[in-house]
Amino acid sequence: MSRVLVTSALPYANGPIHFGHIVGAYLPADIYVRFRRMLGDDVHYVCGTDEHGVAITLRAEQQGTGYAEYVDHWHGIIAKSLSDVGIEFDVFTGTAHHRNPYHRELAQQFFRDLDANGYLFERTEEQFYSESTGRFLPDRYVQGICYLCGYEKARGDECPSCGKYLEAKLLKEPRSTLDGSKPVLRATTHWYLDLAKIRDEWLGEWFESKRGTWKPNVENFVRSDLKDLRERPITRDLPWGVPVPVEGADGKVLYVWFDAPIGYMSISRQHWESVGAPERFEEFWRSPDTELYHFIGKDNITFHTVVFPSILWGSKRDWTLPSNVPANEFFNLEGRKFNTSTGWYIPEDALRGVVPVDALRYALCTMMPETADSEWTWDGFQSRVNDELADNLGNFVSRTLRFVEKFFDGVIPALGDLSDADRAALEAARQASQTMKECLGTFQFRRAGATLMGLGNVANRYYDAEQPWVTVKDDATRSRSGQSMRICVELIDALATLAAPIMPSTARTLRTAIGRDPEAFRFDRVGVVDDSDSHAGAPLSAALPKFTDPKGHEKTALFRKLSNEFIAEQKQRLEESAMESTTPPHEPLADSIDFDQFTAIDVRVGTVIAAEKHPKADRLLVVQVDLGFERRTVVAGIAASYAPEDLVGRRVNVVANLAPRKLRGVESQGMLLAADGADGKPRLLSADSDVPDGTRVR
Ligand code: 2FM
Ligand code: ZN
Repeated sequence: MSRVLVTSALPYANGPIHFGHIVGAYLPADIYVRFRRMLGDDVHYVCGTDEHGVAITLRAEQQGTGYAEYVDHWHGIIAKSLSDVGIEFDVFTGTAHHRNPYHRELAQQFFRDLDANGYLFERTEEQFYSESTGRFLPDRYVQGICYLCGYEKARGDECPSCGKYLEAKLLKEPRSTLDGSKPVLRATTHWYLDLAKIRDEWLGEWFESKRGTWKPNVENFVRSDLKDLRERPITRDLPWGVPVPVEGADGKVLYVWFDAPIGYMSISRQHWESVGAPERFEEFWRSPDTELYHFIGKDNITFHTVVFPSILWGSKRDWTLPSNVPANEFFNLEGRKFNTSTGWYIPEDALRGVVPVDALRYALCTMMPETADSEWTWDGFQSRVNDELADNLGNFVSRTLRFVEKFFDGVIPALGDLSDADRAALEAARQASQTMKECLGTFQFRRAGATLMGLGNVANRYYDAEQPWVTVKDDATRSRSGQSMRICVELIDALATLAAPIMPSTARTLRTAIGRDPEAFRFDRVGVVDDSDSHAGAPLSAALPKFTDPKGHEKTALFRKLSNEFIAEQKQRLEESAMESTTPPHEPLADSIDFDQFTAIDVRVGTVIAAEKHPKADRLLVVQVDLGFERRTVVAGIAASYAPEDLVGRRVNVVANLAPRKLRGVESQGMLLAADGADGKPRLLSADSDVPDGTRVR
């Protein structure tokens, strides 16, 4: 039995997670965890939300929400989304102090250890500071003219036009993207992790010792990273995060990427403390025997292969080091990046009640961006559900169960002599089980899915070739039919076992359907049948899911198919949501009116000849308007934008046939046309000067 520690990237408590995250870091880890548990290993699976960093700090401030309250909101939503797709962690907490009292202390201990061991150094440098907010501005919140290509909206960290990394200080005409103000340069002190030193002392050699054992996409990434390794600042000037444990470092916190991976450890410690087994923390995290796996997406590779191992090693406390970092590449949606803010994503409810979660897990497993970028397509999803899950797996299961029910009273036939075909089918199952173990053990999840379907094909072919519907008719061959069914039941068992890590609930359904323990899955039992199995005569329950088809008929099937209409609707929904979110937010249009209704409103051009404050209301001004043919008193809610004396002489548009009404005691004989400016305050709409007073506006 091995001790296995599995982590999935801690998602930022700063927004929803989508299929791209799930397929990148959570589903593969969850499958792997289930797989290792099936092998009987001692597995601990840790995750939680990543709750610090500048993005979270600023977002909470912009919303006027407290930091803790802000991360709590997203923590809850993320935890639910992950559990909805069947991701089962041993613990899911987070890195904020109020959620996890062990985190701050542990992260600070790492800082002190690294400092004491000579891997940190301090440096004082000038950085942009926003005087309007009293805050240092992180590079990416500074915008200005690119000093390389002249692009006007370059960011302090990179230029979207020429694609080069920039030095924020050199931007021309820098502005804060938060409020447009001009930042100033101010000196600030930060601590840096000396990665080049750690590389030379240890990291380079350690990485070489991993050669050939990590996925090629990861290995290549790290190799190029190591060549150009520099010190990295690990502190920030921010009000939210883990305080830098140095006297006088007030207002400074640890950089989120320094404390986040330590979160794996603090969350794990929190778990073991809470279940009264604190010694298990050291057992997992301080042992050369522990296998540690970090499941992450592509953008997290450096931090898990270079930075975090350096932090672990540099603290010189013999912390467990990663055995492997099976990172995925990027996952797109119909050819474009998933993006919740531009509407290019799949809403959470899209599949709810339409397909079981297992169908989604299977589809994502077979689409995983394991070695290259991959994408979700609705057509691809439909074919996985309809052709693979329903027609292959589901069909084999249904026809076997129905046959046994119909011809053998729902009782699984006893094992008889094995024919060559029986033996071949069982051998195929054993082989598939071997392959499955190999695939999952080496993070080849797509091949694992294909292996499962491959066995489904073998099973269907076996059924067809056996022709039980023929042999059952004749007394002389009826026992052969029973034997074929028994083998088919064993194949269902094999399929259930192979499916268990990927589609856990389907696997349980299958085992229940054939009257076997729905929890006990063993690869080494696949394709092994003998009488000691004593399954013969076990009751066959029709445990398959039931649903109502579009015609209102009740049906049972392992997986129901997705209609073309459903798929077309999803594609359309995606296009529409992307279009909607490119339309800027606006007040919805009022109901349409006909032309007569429009001409019923008489708007006239006029000039302000006098104005004064309303005696009873701060918001209102009392304005005298000359309409050329008569003079009007109009009470207007424009005091927030105009001083009375500034209005005299101004051209205005007056709704002149509005019935007079009293506003706080003063009669208003019309209304001035105005619209709210970007600041929400009213602006008058004026006519050009050569339009005479009294002219009607049409
Ligand atoms: O990219 C992200 O979403 C990060 N929050 C991942 C952190 S992983 C770990 F280091 F905590
Ligand atoms: Zn540029």
